Parts: sequence; structure tokens; C-alpha cells
Amino acid sequence: MSQKDGFNSKFGLIAAAVGSAVGLGNIWRFPYMVGTYGGGAFLIVYLILVSIIGTPILMSELVIGRLGRRDAINSFKVMAPEKKWYFSGVFALLSAFLIFGFYCVVAGWTLEYLFQAIGNNFAGKSPDQLGEMFTGFITHPWKPILFSILFLAITTFVVSFGVQKGIEKVSTLLIPLLFVIIIILDIRALTLPTMEGAQGAMAGLSFLFKPDWSLINSESILAAMGHSFFTLSVGAAVLPTYGSYMKADQNIPSTSVQIFIFDLLIAIMAGIAIFPSMFAFGMAPDQGPGLVFIILPNVFASMPGGYIFGVLFFLLLALAALTSTISLLEVVVAYLVDSKDMERKKASLLAAFGVACIAVVASLSNGAWSHITIMDKNIFDFLDFITANYGMTLAVMIEVLFLGWGYSKDKLYNSMTNDGTAATGVFSLYYFLIRFIAPIAIIIIFLHSIGLF
Ligand code: PHE
Repeated sequence: MSQKDGFNSKFGLIAAAVGSAVGLGNIWRFPYMVGTYGGGAFLIVYLILVSIIGTPILMSELVIGRLGRRDAINSFKVMAPEKKWYFSGVFALLSAFLIFGFYCVVAGWTLEYLFQAIGNNFAGKSPDQLGEMFTGFITHPWKPILFSILFLAITTFVVSFGVQKGIEKVSTLLIPLLFVIIIILDIRALTLPTMEGAQGAMAGLSFLFKPDWSLINSESILAAMGHSFFTLSVGAAVLPTYGSYMKADQNIPSTSVQIFIFDLLIAIMAGIAIFPSMFAFGMAPDQGPGLVFIILPNVFASMPGGYIFGVLFFLLLALAALTSTISLLEVVVAYLVDSKDMERKKASLLAAFGVACIAVVASLSNGAWSHITIMDKNIFDFLDFITANYGMTLAVMIEVLFLGWGYSKDKLYNSMTNDGTAATGVFSLYYFLIRFIAPIAIIIIFLHSIGLF
């Protein structure tokens, strides 16, 4: 390994990768998807898909980083000089940059709401007032920009300290803290008294888990697959970059399974914190921004001890977003440091400046610039659409074709099994999955997402 900065401990890599994986996707997207696409039935479909596609891709990305020991683009060039496989890295890096542009805007909202919760500003407001508060904030010309720049500044501060002193230190501290906060929120949600006329907390659990196989169809299966990429942060350069900082003797298959399990646990625990509370107060489940920024503040306004639980919830959301934005910034910084020989602090500032420009446009597109549309979407939604449907999918597709068909099986075996000393039994299964199952599945998602069937 070159003398570059790397993770000091095996847990450091796991915490950083879990930090990247656990984010807004787990807390507002996953629980809602489970609830509406068939509860426990959807959960089983999701588990099967993540096991046969998501986790093998996660393993592949870590192995690419460790074999190349460079950033997400140059690792491919090291592994396959003169070949064009590095385009996977180009798509991944571009996706990370664009995802960061809109993710950072939502991260800014979480910070604003954390301050609102601390200032006790949800109390005494009607649902309509809370709705207006949210719309007023996100369409405001400069407030959301200010908060997203603030969020970006915190991210840049952490990343500029480097892998070990910045990313690893913060992730090993925050991941256990996230678990503690979410456990407290779960206990509160499950012990809430039922408001008159409402269905009660248990109805929330049944919304989340009761299997309804009639809702499992091609749409829900594809949604599960698409979500598994976003939530595991695959296809966005993060895992190859973190893999390049990983210890040579870390067991990649078992590390990947641990990352996937932690990610899933947080997502399920977020669902347990959210839905029972909503059902206890008779609120209908909604999705996305509406759920987190309008309905939950309502719940906190009426809940006994709502002040403290509101603060804890928005703290959880902001910290989960922070460990994800750290990974998004790091992939760009790693590229600038590796390829352009730039000094880390300078690279962090330059990358942050680039992201800030996109974030400003993305934020304005929710308000003053909402009339500017691309493919009928405002810029914010367009960034989400183009990265999820094209950028990440293409990156992942090229990557599995490369490892499955374009790279030496022996070298892959040696790295994946640490020269035949670890996880040798799972290699054949892994190789079969990335050679055949993953490419076919990805083509199906891709064709579906561009509306071909
Ligand atoms: N996995 C993150 C989430 O669930 C989002 C993310 C995607 C982060 C890609 C980094 C790269 O919120």
C-alpha cells in the first residue's frame, strides 16, 4: 500500500461505510416504502434482493478500492491499464457530485429544523401552520442556502482532517450515538398513550410489518432494488474510495454483510420510531419531506415530552446526513488528491466550492427558480432523477461486467479471500451473482426506469 492515509482500525472502515449508507434514505424513504409496498412482504423481497445483488456489489466496490489503492476512477486504471473500465468511476464520481448538490440542500433543512426544535417552535402550531412553515422555508431565497452552506462547511471541516483523524474519528463516535438516539426514540414511540379516536401505536407497527403479498408486483420489486443501491451508497464512488483506505487483512465479505445489517437495522428502527407515533396521534402516513418536516413536527407538538424527542429526532437526522455528506465530499477530495496531486485542505475547499454552486441552484429551484425545468422537473428533482436512474446504474453495471468478465478471476479470488485465508466458501456464489444475476437485474431496473416497460 502507498503511504497514503488510511483507516486505523477495521471498525473504522465499517463505521465510515455505515455512516455513508445510513442517511436520509433510511429515515424517511425506507420506512415509507415498507409501509406502502406490502409491509413484511416487501421486507422479505428487499432482503432477498439486497442479499443477492446489493451486498455482492458492495463487496465488489470494496475490492476494487483495495486492489487499486487509488480513488474511484484511478483504481480501475491500476487494475486494467489501457482499458476503458474506468468509465465506471467517472459515472460514479459525477453521480456523487450531483447527489451531493441536492442532498446538501435537504441536509440544510435538517439543520434548520434542529434549530427550530431547540427553539421549541413546533409547539402550539396547527398542522396547516407547520405545513406553511416548511413551504415558506424551502422556497425562501436565501435561508435554505445559508443552512446548506453551513452544513457543507461542517462536512468540509471534518474531511479536511483526513481519513483517520477526520472521517474515522467522527464516524466511530457518531454511529454508536445514532443507535442510542434511535433506541430512545423507539422506546418513546412504543409506549405512547393513544389519543382519542386514533388507532394507537400497535397499528403503526402493523402498517410497517404486516405482510400483504398482493402489493408485491414488478413495481415494488424494482423499487426495492433501486432503493438498495441508494441506501448502500453503491454506484457513487464511496465504497471504492473507502476500500482503498482499508486494511489488507480485513475480510471483505463479512465486512460487507455487517455494513448491510447495520444499514437495515437503522432503517427498521427508524420505521419503529416514526409510524407508531403517527398512528398514536391519528396522523396519516405520508412520504418524503412531508413526513419528516410537516407530520412529525405535529406529532412532537402533541406528544408528552415532545420537545426533547423532537430535538433528538432532528439531531438524528442531521447527524445521519452528515456522515453521508462526509463520504460524498471525500470521494471528490480523494480524486483531486490522487490525480491532481492537490493538498487535502485545498482539495476539500475546492470540492466544497463546486458542490456549493450546485446546491445554490438546487435550493433556488424549489422557490425563485422553480420555473426552470429540465424534462418537466425542477433542477432539484432532475438531479435526483439523473443520478438514481442513469449515473449510479451505469457505474454499477460497468463495474460488475468488469469484475465478472473483464478481470482475472484468480486475482479477484485472492483479494476477496485474503489469499485464500478468509471466506473462501462464499467466493463461487459471489462470482456467480456478479457474473450473471447482477447484470441481468441491473438491465431490468434500467430499462424499467427509463420507461421501456
Ligand atoms: N446512502 C445514503 C442515504 O441513504 C445516500 C448516499 C448515496 C450517500 C450515495 C452517499 C452516496 O441517505
